[in-house]
Amino acid sequence: MNGIRIRGTGRCVPERTVTNSDLAKIVDTSDEWITTRTGIERRHHCTGETHGALCAAAARRALERAGVGPEEIGGCIVATVTGETLVPSAACALQKELGLPEDIPCFDLNAACTGFLMGLHTMECLLTASRRRYGLVVGAEVLSRILDWTDRSTCILFGDGAGAAVVEWNEEFDSISAELGVRGDDQVLRLPGVETGGHSYLTMDGKKVFKFAVEAVPECIDRVLRRTGKAVEDVDFFVFHQANARIIDLAVRKYRIPPEKYYKNIQEYGNTSAASIPIVLSELQEQGRVRSGSRVLLAGFGGGLTWGGALVEFA
Ligand code: UT7
Repeated sequence: MNGIRIRGTGRCVPERTVTNSDLAKIVDTSDEWITTRTGIERRHHCTGETHGALCAAAARRALERAGVGPEEIGGCIVATVTGETLVPSAACALQKELGLPEDIPCFDLNAACTGFLMGLHTMECLLTASRRRYGLVVGAEVLSRILDWTDRSTCILFGDGAGAAVVEWNEEFDSISAELGVRGDDQVLRLPGVETGGHSYLTMDGKKVFKFAVEAVPECIDRVLRRTGKAVEDVDFFVFHQANARIIDLAVRKYRIPPEKYYKNIQEYGNTSAASIPIVLSELQEQGRVRSGSRVLLAGFGGGLTWGGALVEFA
């Protein structure tokens, strides 16, 4: 015992929609190729909106839905690789913007697309050692800023957005049983940091990441089910990182997950990296498809190469 549950979720995506046909005007691609290979139909890209504004809007919605005030928050983690500044972190900016308490840990977490999952686990650990009961975990990316607009193999995949969850810790709650890990590879998905002399945009060997993902997602599901002693039927909803519809379809087929128990929104947002899982969660909560007592299995993977799974209940 000693664990967290999700109380409230929120999301914010930029207004501007970029369709596959829009991208076909700038790189050699087509709506047909993108839709059939990835499931993506459009994505949202920032024009005026800032990373900080997306985080704040998603977090405010999550606090409101949770019925929790900013003064009750015991820690804030923003999973991101695209914050406006490295220092201050996006989490520190959010602490100021929302008026979170001064005496709580606030920091950014970089685990690429697995960031939100690693953030949830980290928050569970933090709250276990805290006097406060609630935590704020945000996944946010403005990936349009780090794309190579001449590389058709990457620039069509990613979108901008933020998702947030307010979690509640209680000694009576089960742990989310996070299973997290890294299969170290510094070549297949890269975003150089400062002073590395490399290009400042994302590069990826999509085929290799795909291969990794189709192994990692089932591995995450198996590990979480094994650890919690649950079966596929005990899970109310499966939430996958939205990187490619084909990766989700393969997992769904392998575990015979019925259509009412999983969700895809990649067609609308593309791959929003650390934001993808919390954006799905907020849509599901808004639609009433997950509610108090729902048990949701999360599975994600990304650069690093990182992977992760967890079984989280809604409060
Ligand atoms: O969030 C975690 C990070 N990312 C991922 O999870 C990505 C995982 N990987 C994928 O989703 C897929 O590998 C991609 C969607 C990136 C690529 O799909 P694919 O079916 O693996 O295609 P491919 O890379 O094998 O490329 C097939 C062909 C190539 O042409 P040739 O060499 O066969 O003539 C590419 O040059 O498709 C070409 N191609 C494109 N054609 C039209 C690559 N990108 C495009 C494009 N439009 N945008």
